[in-house]
Amino acid sequence: MKRTVIAGVGHYVPENVVTNNDLSKIMETSDQWIQERTGIQERRWVSAEGEDSTSGMGTKAARNAIADAGLEPKDIDFIIFAPLSPDYYFPGPGVQVQENLGIDTIGALDVRNQCSGFVYGLSVADQFIKTGMYKNVLLIGSELHSGGLDKTTRGRGVSVIFGDGAGAVVLQASDDQSKGVLTTKLHSEGKHAKELALLGPATDRWVDRIIAENDPDDMSYYPYMNGNFVFKHAVTRFQEVILEALADVNKDASDIDLLIPHQANLRISQFVQKKMGLGPDKVFNNIMKYGNTTAASIPIALSEAKQEGRVKEGDLLCLAAFGSGFTWASALIQL
Ligand code: ACO
Repeated sequence: MKRTVIAGVGHYVPENVVTNNDLSKIMETSDQWIQERTGIQERRWVSAEGEDSTSGMGTKAARNAIADAGLEPKDIDFIIFAPLSPDYYFPGPGVQVQENLGIDTIGALDVRNQCSGFVYGLSVADQFIKTGMYKNVLLIGSELHSGGLDKTTRGRGVSVIFGDGAGAVVLQASDDQSKGVLTTKLHSEGKHAKELALLGPATDRWVDRIIAENDPDDMSYYPYMNGNFVFKHAVTRFQEVILEALADVNKDASDIDLLIPHQANLRISQFVQKKMGLGPDKVFNNIMKYGNTTAASIPIALSEAKQEGRVKEGDLLCLAAFGSGFTWASALIQL
């Protein structure tokens, strides 16, 4: 059986920096409120409509990851794209990356698991690679949140948290059994689907179905989040799913060299870090700079961790995510 190794990583974020103080000029909020509750200092928001897109940013991150792997787009066998915020209702952005990169008619799969999308995508890629079906799989997480947020005081509980950006990895088949993806764990609990969701446009709504009536008071066209409820579930599930993966390969928390949690909220990461007995140097956080970029947050963090020398060959890397669905997932990777 083949092993799945990370051959290349890359990311891309829009240039436009939006600080908490910038937000306090367009809604009733403050740098202190946002930092105390989320740790976020600033985020990137595409500055003008059409300047960037989920697929476009994903393509840029993908080019960086492919170059980092020392490959060319033609070497990619399969694309997996994890978006919460696709360019279109359909088709998903995987095919747009195939077109943008000029790769021949390879398969492109869209994985819709929001904050857990990257780890779910990694698990899918791992199965394809282990069984020998594909050699080089391009996995992308990309989000353009800024175009769909309620940037008024009414939407402040959600809009201050989310940022735009993209990250990508090239996953490659290896015969070296001493490294690669050791295990992945995936979970869901659909009874909480509406606690963190964007319900319109939707096919389950008879009257307006997909076409919005453009009612400015219809909040179903904006993301909804039951913040306290999400927080409580997140801290439990993060720890649970990390411990499940460690137990699967007979390791414990002290074996982890670096944990990259989905960048949901700095307070969630710090809570998990303490509960797991990990030192601050063992957990990578960059939510302070980018906010929550959903499916893009783990690959952006991984790309920055590599640039900063925080991950090296021989390290045990743990990825973990929790989000809308609810879904949660983890992966252990021997670098
Ligand atoms: N600025 C100022 N005040 C605000 C803001 C804001 N941006 N947003 C909400 N408030 C106000 C509320 O209106 C409320 O005012 P009130 O007491 O007069 O009614 C007050 O602040 C407290 O609101 P809460 O929603 O109770 O604030 P809380 O302390 O729970 O913090 C937060 C909200 C940060 C969202 C918190 O619940 C949380 O961290 N939840 C975790 C969810 C999360 O991080 N999700 C990330 C995305 S999901 C994911 O990736 C898994």
